[in-house]
Amino acid sequence: MNGVSHFDNGRRIGRRASFVLLVCANVLMMATASAPSPIYPLYRERWGFSVTMLTVIFAGYVAGPLGALLTVGSLSDHLEERPHLGPTGPASRAPRADPVLNPHNQPISTNFLGKDSSMRAITVRDRDAGVSGLTLTDMPYPHAAENDAIVRVYAAGFTPGELDWPGTWSDRAGRDRTPSIPGHELSGVVVELGYGTTGLTVGQRVFGLTDWTRNGSLAEYTAVEARNLAPLAADIDHTVAAALPISGLTAWQGLFDHAHLTTGQTVLIHGAAGGVGSIAVQLAREVGARVIGTGRADDRDVALGLGAQTFLDLDADDLQHVGEVDVVFDVIGGDILERSTELVRPGGTLVTIAMPPTVRPKDGRAIFFVVEPDRARLTDLAQRLRTGRLNPIVGAVRPLSETASAFARHRRTPGKTIIQVADEQGMPTSF
Ligand SMILES: NC(=O)c1ccc[n+]([C@@H]2O[C@H](COP(=O)([O-])OP(=O)(O)OC[C@H]3O[C@@H](n4cnc5c(N)ncnc54)[C@H](OP(=O)(O)O)[C@@H]3O)[C@@H](O)[C@H]2O)c1
Repeated sequence: MNGVSHFDNGRRIGRRASFVLLVCANVLMMATASAPSPIYPLYRERWGFSVTMLTVIFAGYVAGPLGALLTVGSLSDHLEERPHLGPTGPASRAPRADPVLNPHNQPISTNFLGKDSSMRAITVRDRDAGVSGLTLTDMPYPHAAENDAIVRVYAAGFTPGELDWPGTWSDRAGRDRTPSIPGHELSGVVVELGYGTTGLTVGQRVFGLTDWTRNGSLAEYTAVEARNLAPLAADIDHTVAAALPISGLTAWQGLFDHAHLTTGQTVLIHGAAGGVGSIAVQLAREVGARVIGTGRADDRDVALGLGAQTFLDLDADDLQHVGEVDVVFDVIGGDILERSTELVRPGGTLVTIAMPPTVRPKDGRAIFFVVEPDRARLTDLAQRLRTGRLNPIVGAVRPLSETASAFARHRRTPGKTIIQVADEQGMPTSF
């Protein structure tokens, strides 16, 4: 299907047929008036010239306006089919995609708001207010800058502690950017493309990360650099996909890009039942590493269920009993991070995502890193998810209006808490 319906084709054929009929009618009328006719010999004899002229004038009166109407009609149709060159340039030049279908084969609406509309979003204004500052607000529909995609957000993920990140409060030049929208993981549908954006189409299901210093995913729509997004297969639920981008990429980059974990090595993974840790446990097991997970007592079953061979309750067990490991993957920082350095065997690596380490292993490396977007790796992670090799833990799914309480986490939930912004039909969620 190329975006032009049978209805459009029918209209075009009908218009051309009526134009041809009109021309034929005019020719016939003029021929009748000027050629010898058995019906009007008298009139022709007396007023032949006048009848001919009247016919020509009458034909002109009818043909003129009709021709004008037809011209305007075909012009407007032509314009309709041309891309809209609005403020976002060739945004609408993206090919019209097939209708997006939900798992029940029903079409999903991809655009509910226009550029001048406002949208519902969670915003923060006051850094000191913490989680209680998360407010459901009306915000302007986002602008698609160069290389951006506007995504209709279906599900969003957030990271505990992101209200402390500088990017939540200021842009890349350090300027205050409040009110800002938090949340940096999303799954949704592309509704608009900015100038020069390639690799994605309008109507496409995508998932990925939003930029750290721009408005995020806890909103009905968000503008994202297209390179931060990867295509999402129709059989992956948005609420599952939104749990993968930061956790999946962070776990992969920490274990393999930075710590170079390989088959047969031993890795200690802190926070093994959390968002990043639960993915790290699964990836490390798949590569054939021996996995020791840590966390709170309640996390034991989850960590062992994900594949950890041993579990340590950090409140009760002694970390030193672990013995030497090749890799420590830390998500907690502080005292736990410091005590873990002693466990790294010579040549090993301590990698942490919590804070730059102040101490390092005696004969090993200590690395702090911030996750980077990576479309190819996201695609690979989504494929693992489809084939059941990777199972992100979605501990809870809440509507946008309950974001503040989801951040506050009164009740402990394993894995990620996901904010469902729209249901699979694209309708705003409230439950
Ligand atoms: N540098 C980066 O690129 C990057 C990327 C992603 C995340 N992060 C950061 O990494 C951290 C973890 O992220 P996440 O999404 O995995 O968070 P998460 O889902 O909350 O997971 C952390 C896990 O560690 C447990 N934990 C924390 N402190 C503990 C302690 N003292 N004793 C025992 N268990 C403890 C938590 O349990 P409780 O829930 O009971 O505390 C939770 O199960 C966050 O600070 C986040 O900001 C950094």
